[in-house]
Amino acid sequence: MSSKDQLIIFDTTLRDGEQSPGASMTKDEKIRIARALEKMRVDVIEAGFPIASPGDFESVKAVAETVKDSTVCGLARALEADIDRAGEALKKANSGRIHTFIATSPIHMERKLRMQPDQVVEQAVWAVKHALKYTDNVEFSAEDAGRSEIDFLCRIFEAVIDAGATTINVPDTVGYNIPDQFGNTLRTLIERIPNSDKAVFSVHCHNDLGLAVANSLAAVNAGARQVECTINGLGERAGNASLEEIVMAVRTRQDIFGCDTNLDTSQIVTCSRLVSNITGFPVQPNKAIVGANAFAHESGIHQDGVLKHRETYEIMRAEDVGWSANRMVMGKHSGRNAFRARLEELGIDLGTEEALNEAFKRFKDLADKKHEIFDEDLQALVTDKGAEEISERVKLVSLKARSETGETPVADITITVDGEEKSISSEGSGPVDAAYRAIEALINSGSDLKLYSVNNITSGTDSQGEVTVRLEKAGRLINGQGADTDIVVASAKAYINGINKLMQAVDKAHPQGNV
Ligand code: KIV
Ligand code: ZN
Repeated sequence: MSSKDQLIIFDTTLRDGEQSPGASMTKDEKIRIARALEKMRVDVIEAGFPIASPGDFESVKAVAETVKDSTVCGLARALEADIDRAGEALKKANSGRIHTFIATSPIHMERKLRMQPDQVVEQAVWAVKHALKYTDNVEFSAEDAGRSEIDFLCRIFEAVIDAGATTINVPDTVGYNIPDQFGNTLRTLIERIPNSDKAVFSVHCHNDLGLAVANSLAAVNAGARQVECTINGLGERAGNASLEEIVMAVRTRQDIFGCDTNLDTSQIVTCSRLVSNITGFPVQPNKAIVGANAFAHESGIHQDGVLKHRETYEIMRAEDVGWSANRMVMGKHSGRNAFRARLEELGIDLGTEEALNEAFKRFKDLADKKHEIFDEDLQALVTDKGAEEISERVKLVSLKARSETGETPVADITITVDGEEKSISSEGSGPVDAAYRAIEALINSGSDLKLYSVNNITSGTDSQGEVTVRLEKAGRLINGQGADTDIVVASAKAYINGINKLMQAVDKAHPQGNV
C-alpha cells in the first residue's frame, strides 16, 4: 500500500477513551489493551497524557517499553513541562510520537487561553520545535478546530508544518460538525495550505451529535489519511469515533474510499470485549460490528435469505471481525496445551508460565461447574484476575449466602487479608448486599460503590455471570471484575478485586483532572 492509499489508525482508547468518567485504567490494564491493539496492527497507540499524573506517566512509559510494532504516542499541551514529560515517558519506545495541542477556536482562545491568535501561533510553533528535540515524529492538534476559523487554521497549520510537524490533526472537540461541512473543511485545508503535502492530515471526532464516525469518514473522502478513534467508541462525554466502525466501513466500501487500513480485523471482537471488561462499560447488543446482535438474523425472511445466499442480508462476514463460527471451544477434558493454544488464538498473553498454570486451574474448576466452555468464558476467566499483576492482599476463601422468601438474607464469608484468615456473618437487603456488608465489616475499605453491573457471559442459566463494580475512594475510581456461575460469588470476587486495586499505591486521578 502506498502512503496515499494507507489510512493510518490512531487509537486513543488509552487516552481519550480513559477520559470517560469511570473508565480509568491501571497500568497493567493499559498494557493488556496496548498488547491487543498491537496484535490488531493498530498504527499508533496514544497511551496517555504523561503530565496528567505520575500514574499516567508510568503507564505511557510501560506501554512504550512493551509495544514494539506500533508507534506509541504521548499527549502534551503546547507547554515545555508537558512536552518534556512526554519525551521522557517515550524514551524507550521503538517508535515514539509526541502529540502536542493548543486551542484555536475564538471561544477557546479568548475565554480559556486568554491569548491573542498571534501568540497561539507562536506557542504552537515553539511547541513543535521543542517536541522535535525528542523525536522526529510530532503531531500537532488544533483543539476545537471544528469551531475554528478556516483562515486561522490554514495559518497555524502552515506554520507548524514549516516547523516540522508531520501529522496535522483536526479535532471536532465538541462534536459540533456535520459530515458535508467537516469534509469540506478537510478538503479546503489540504487544498489551501501550501505545504500540506509535507504532512498527513488527521481527524479526531467526538460523538456529541452521534456523527463522529460519519464526520471522520467524510474527512477520509476529502483526503484525511489518519483517523483518531477508540475501541467501542469510548471517550470524553458521548465518546469518540468507534475504531471498529471506521475500519469496517472503509474495508467494506472499497468502492467509495481510496484507501484501506493495515488492520487485522479478526482481532476486533477480542479487543472490544477486553476494553468492555476492563472499563465495565457494556457494549449495547445492537452496536455495529461488536454488538451481540450485529450478525444475528431474527426475521424468518432474513434467516431464509441468509441460508440461501449469505450476502442477501450480510455485508460483512462475522468471522472477519472475530466472531468465531464455532463458539464452543473446550470442556472438562481439554488439556493444558489446548487451553494455551486457544488463549493464543484469542490474543490473550498471560505473560508467565505461572500465570498460565493458575489460569488453567481456574479453567478446570469452571469446567467442573459448567459443561461447555465458550471463548467468552475463557476471556472472563483471565480478566477475572490471572493476567493482571495486582497484588492480591485480600482473597476469597469461601462464601455461603442464604436467601428465602420472607427472611432476611445472610452471607457467611471467609477471606484472607495478607494471609490471615477472617470470617464473619452479615445480613443485607439481598444476598449480594449481605456479602458486600460482610466484606466491608472485615476490611473496612472506606470505599463507595458507584456502579454494580451483572452481565451473563453466554446464554443459558448455567452461564457465568460477569460482575463489574466501580469503587471510589478519595477521588480515585477503579473497576473490579469477577466471574462465576454463581452471581453472588462473582459479585464478591468483583468487590474483592476492586479492593485489591484500591489497596495498590495510588497511581492516578482522573486524566487531565489535575493539569
Ligand atoms: O478532543 C480533542 O480535541 C482532543 C485533543 C487533545 C486532540 O482530545
Ligand atoms: Zn478528544
